[in-house]
Amino acid sequence: MTVSKLSESSLPAAWHITAMNPAEAPWPLLLLADPSREKVRRYLQGSICFAARQTANFTPSGLGALIGVCVLHPRDDGLQTWELMNMAVAPAWQRNGIGSALLHRAIREMRERGVRQLEVGTGSFGDQLLFYQRLGFRVTDIDRDFFLLNYTTPLWERGVQLKDMLRLTLEL
Ligand SMILES: CC(C)(COP(=O)(O)OP(=O)(O)OC[C@H]1O[C@@H](n2cnc3c(N)ncnc32)[C@H](O)[C@@H]1OP(=O)(O)O)[C@@H](O)C(=O)NCCC(=O)NCCS
Repeated sequence: MTVSKLSESSLPAAWHITAMNPAEAPWPLLLLADPSREKVRRYLQGSICFAARQTANFTPSGLGALIGVCVLHPRDDGLQTWELMNMAVAPAWQRNGIGSALLHRAIREMRERGVRQLEVGTGSFGDQLLFYQRLGFRVTDIDRDFFLLNYTTPLWERGVQLKDMLRLTLEL
């Protein structure tokens, strides 16, 4: 009997990316990236959404369990610029390339729609800044005191309070 050896590349991927109705995006993931439920609720309307789902662990709906999400919203008429409003991967699944795959899928969608720029607002320090810049985003603006003025509770990252927001742009 011959036993074929499974190489790593022949193993099925543990997750996959799909489009998702924004109304079905899971709150625990959305709130991981943006703690303001009110803001999230506001921008979910009119957004498009992609999800990362576990391939092996199917839910009763027949779809894989949700482990990542990204939400994109058009600016103005949506022809020129869209904004990445929310991006989160479940903590146990982070640093496995899921966030990058979600963003690559979103970028492909923007290019197919003829969009010119994708923007994102993020803290002025921290891992997210590295994450976005690795994918080609560049700093284009600083919104001083954004997190002080727009959130009722202070936001902290590794013991440092987030105050200013950097606006990053990816030219498509
Ligand atoms: C930011 C986030 C979406 C990235 O998703 P991810 O699946 O972990 O990202 P990837 O695995 O594709 O890329 C990871 C890269 O991003 C950076 N990064 C992301 N999280 C990091 C962490 N906790 N520590 C260090 N680097 C990190 C690194 O450059 C890392 O590359 P490396 O693993 O080769 O060092 C995820 O960490 C997350 O959900 N964070 C909490 C919510 C959040 O802050 N969202 C963004 C709001 S602006």
